Amino acid sequence: MTEFEEESTARLTDVPANTALQQATATFMQASVAAQYSYNFFWLGRPIIQYPQDMVAFQELVWKVRPDVIVETGIAHGGSLILSASLLAMLDLCEATEVGEMLDTRAPKRRVVGVDIDIRAHNRTAIEAHPLSNRIKMIEGSSIDEAIVAQVRTAVGDAKRVLVCLDSNHTHDHVLAELKAYAPMVTSGSYCIVFDTLIEDMPAEEYPDRPWGPGDNPKTAVQAWLADHPEFEIDKQIDHKLLISVAPDGFLRRRS
Ligand SMILES: C[S@@+](CC[C@H](N)C(=O)[O-])C[C@H]1O[C@@H](n2cnc3c(N)ncnc32)[C@H](O)[C@@H]1O
Repeated sequence: MTEFEEESTARLTDVPANTALQQATATFMQASVAAQYSYNFFWLGRPIIQYPQDMVAFQELVWKVRPDVIVETGIAHGGSLILSASLLAMLDLCEATEVGEMLDTRAPKRRVVGVDIDIRAHNRTAIEAHPLSNRIKMIEGSSIDEAIVAQVRTAVGDAKRVLVCLDSNHTHDHVLAELKAYAPMVTSGSYCIVFDTLIEDMPAEEYPDRPWGPGDNPKTAVQAWLADHPEFEIDKQIDHKLLISVAPDGFLRRRS
């Protein structure tokens, strides 16, 4: 670890006890969820339904893990697929540069596999027209349908490093089923990122027309699933670093 990293790690240990920071975070999270803040952003031209802080954390993880394949459930407008594809393209570029090779953009090494129950025609068209689309495979169907999971497994193949993001239906039962299906694909030292765990900490009134809410959401699924899966641990350092995140307790690291 460099001196800078050691200082940063030490600083983060003070965060949980910093009540001013914790209160400011809780106030911002609640107000920003009410204001639909996550719908305000684009990644390389496509709408991405995420918070910028989570995108930065994702970039740090992709650089650390260097995945060959990223699996995502929940495509929507495709912004997160393009984010993953762009970071994987950057990894390919950096590795080619390191060994003095030319990057062949027609034959990308690293890939993204996305699943959505409803890939709207205009979104599919825009994603397929994106310059990074040759890294992306989209599969339409429910992420917990065994036939769809099998298609994802085939698409992942024998990739050495796999990272998974779960961001589809946010009910407890659905996310628990996704964890059972997709977490085994995550390779040692890599991550399963479970989005929207923050629902547990929000007032129930925030989700009047949704099947999820406090008590029934991705965080309750993570808690239930981790009880039987000690091979995964919550990376609390990411939570302490981000504060502003839709995935508190959702960055799950597979132990090496
Ligand atoms: C929050 S959005 C995904 C946002 C996207 N990951 C991003 O960052 O821009 C949730 C998506 O999950 C999809 N979805 C809902 N239920 C699903 C299911 N059972 N299987 C797969 N996808 C589902 C919805 O169609 C919707 O597009």
